[in-house]
Amino acid sequence: MIKTLEWTDDGVRFIDQTKLPTEEIYVTCKTYYEVADAIKTMIVRGAPAIGVAAGMGIALGVRHSKAQTADELRRDFDHICQVIGATRPTAVNLFWAIRRMQEKFASLQGQPIDHIKLELISEAQRMHVEDIAANKAMGKHGAVLLPSAGGVLTHCNAGALATAGYGTALGVIRAAVESGKKLHMFVDETRPFLQGSRLTAWELMKDNIPTTLISDNMAGAMMRQGKINAVVVGADRIAANGDVANKIGTYTVAVLAREHGIPFYVAAPISTVDLATADGSQIPIEQRASAEVTHLAGKQIAPDGVGVENPAFDVTPNKYVTAIITERGVARPPYRESLRALVGA
Ligand code: MRU
Repeated sequence: MIKTLEWTDDGVRFIDQTKLPTEEIYVTCKTYYEVADAIKTMIVRGAPAIGVAAGMGIALGVRHSKAQTADELRRDFDHICQVIGATRPTAVNLFWAIRRMQEKFASLQGQPIDHIKLELISEAQRMHVEDIAANKAMGKHGAVLLPSAGGVLTHCNAGALATAGYGTALGVIRAAVESGKKLHMFVDETRPFLQGSRLTAWELMKDNIPTTLISDNMAGAMMRQGKINAVVVGADRIAANGDVANKIGTYTVAVLAREHGIPFYVAAPISTVDLATADGSQIPIEQRASAEVTHLAGKQIAPDGVGVENPAFDVTPNKYVTAIITERGVARPPYRESLRALVGA
């Protein structure tokens, strides 16, 4: 399995996703500042992977703390959480992971500092293990929804690289293929950061899953030609009403799928469901540098000084979402009730 990130004695080790698919390079972050930077610069990306990276980054920061007293450790811990929390705003898994580490830290009050450090490292490692298990469960729940043969479109990368392993949307695809389904994947290249062409195509080819890469503006034509039987994507945050924030361009795909009568599935762990956010209009959308749009692989492709929009995510209204696949089962409309039931709130 692809090792997206792992805890090592030297620090947190990541496959550098900015270098794929041409170079398979690993970097080890030795401080929590380096982990924060790896999240910001997208060495590690994808909502669940960002969550686990956050947990490991916090554990790393606490491990290196020179605090001698409980108060000093609390000050260090709060600062580390603040730095990690200021990296990327949209994927709620980041904040879910920070809260989980905060709750663990609170439960350890009064214990010796060395013990607290070890417990926080274990908690981060648990997140890693649990994420893979969640993806496998999601795969089982989602695989049965797909046809026994046909074309499936995905957008961005919701694979092993976006998680601790196996993937959410690609986990569903992997499970379906493992169960004998004959699927052919269509992969949107996913401008401007090209997660589809650089990462998803790379992952699927490694697994020998038949794959066709298309540029984003080809999806409608492929649907019209009858080549796509289902769409499966991941999510960065799912609001209480089932509105889904995911990679920019997802909304376009969802509207196209509706027009062509194609089911549009979202696969995401419960840690991506944010019941505190009532609907998609309240989800913060990260704006990224204009150079990602004006340049391609370092080459300028737009005139100097042109105005640019570069929202990293969009929101797909719940009415376009056929079902939301989680590790605890499949939610169907109306989502306010079905998601609440799955979360157990
Ligand atoms: O900007 P990115 O690459 O972090 O965005 C990733 C996505 O939008 C994924 O589809 C989402 O995080 C789900 S990953 C399982």
